[in-house]
Amino acid sequence: MIIGVPKEIKNHEYRVGMVPASVRELINHGHQVIVETNAGIGIGFTDEDYIQAGAEILPTAADVFAKAEMIVKVKEPQAVERAMLREDQILFTYLHLAPDLPQTEDLIKSGAICIAYETVTDTRGGLPLLAPMSEVAGRMSIQAGAQALEKSNEGRGMLLGGVPGVEPAKVVVIGGGMVGRNAAQMAVGMGADVTILDRNIDVLRSLNAQFGSQAKVIYSTVDALEKHVLEADLVIGGVLIPGAAAPKLVTEEHIKSMKPGSAIVDVAIDQGGCIATSKATTHAEPTYIVDDVVHYCVANMPGAVPRTSTFALNNATLPYIIKLANQGYKEALLSDQHFLNGLNVIKGQVTCKEVAEGFNMEYVDPRSAIENA
Ligand SMILES: NC(=O)c1ccc[n+]([C@@H]2O[C@H](COP(=O)([O-])OP(=O)(O)OC[C@H]3O[C@@H](n4cnc5c(N)ncnc54)[C@H](O)[C@@H]3O)[C@@H](O)[C@H]2O)c1
Repeated sequence: MIIGVPKEIKNHEYRVGMVPASVRELINHGHQVIVETNAGIGIGFTDEDYIQAGAEILPTAADVFAKAEMIVKVKEPQAVERAMLREDQILFTYLHLAPDLPQTEDLIKSGAICIAYETVTDTRGGLPLLAPMSEVAGRMSIQAGAQALEKSNEGRGMLLGGVPGVEPAKVVVIGGGMVGRNAAQMAVGMGADVTILDRNIDVLRSLNAQFGSQAKVIYSTVDALEKHVLEADLVIGGVLIPGAAAPKLVTEEHIKSMKPGSAIVDVAIDQGGCIATSKATTHAEPTYIVDDVVHYCVANMPGAVPRTSTFALNNATLPYIIKLANQGYKEALLSDQHFLNGLNVIKGQVTCKEVAEGFNMEYVDPRSAIENA
């Protein structure tokens, strides 16, 4: 199969669909990889690195789209990219179609086979191609929180781990899933006093097994939440109710009663945030203050560390890319229900129920859509 990797064109997006090591894997499987010039330059990969891995470099995105049988990207295709998609071409990338009618309409029009990273599932009920970005954001949240606590950022002027003779900061992590677990790991590593709240008893058990006495693991009730948030120096918001807006677990009253100079990192901001006073911010201006509490609410945290994020994403996507290339999309998807869940649009038909319902469009079962394709 001919696999194409265009350079990402969304504002401030430096990640790339495939690193040279992934290209080499596909070449080893007997495939051909074409890469747009400078596709990886933002994270330090030159055209020469891709050539060494066996790729061919093409001068424009139009060349890549025209020649490739499968396009592998990171962000949803922008309007100019959508116009280059063609019937029967496979598109494998993050799509996030639910809030994006123009993109959905263009993908339908294109006749392409559009598989979204974020709706591929796994046997444990997880989202394996979304999880790496939660790992990145979770770990980053402690870096961001540590900075927010610095005096120059209007924080309390505390070092997360303290020093001998001085107490460490109290870090409270709400939600012990992928984000929360990774945040807690970093906070524990830095010597902070860490408490994790979750309401899933299996998650609590597994957190306890992981952290032992290094972190307190607490069942999340209104009562427990209030107690720990009011004592916290740093709160990390990492809750998720799949498919729904994040619940506002920390109220305006809580914020008013928190210690002046304490900080909040609301990682769940991409789902609306779990803190009543959260509003999305950007890397250019990541924080703002409400009632003396520093708020960090960047909706695309992994964008700040595109090199790490690209490797993390590639590690997760590579087996799926190889499967699509080796077996073709029909066999690859039909033989794996979890991978099939990634199919959002195929040859003009919408095969993702939430997207079809959201836009009042006809929903077609993905299996029959492929069988009739
Ligand atoms: N801002 C960013 O850049 C960024 C990056 C990655 C992920 N995220 C977001 O972070 C959030 C968390 O993602 P995740 O992958 O960790 O999800 P996850 O499903 O792995 O974990 C969510 C956890 O929240 C817990 N939870 C639900 N309701 C709760 C409550 N009332 N009290 C305490 N815990 C509760 C669940 O039991 C679960 O363990 C999502 O909204 C995700 O989209 C944001």
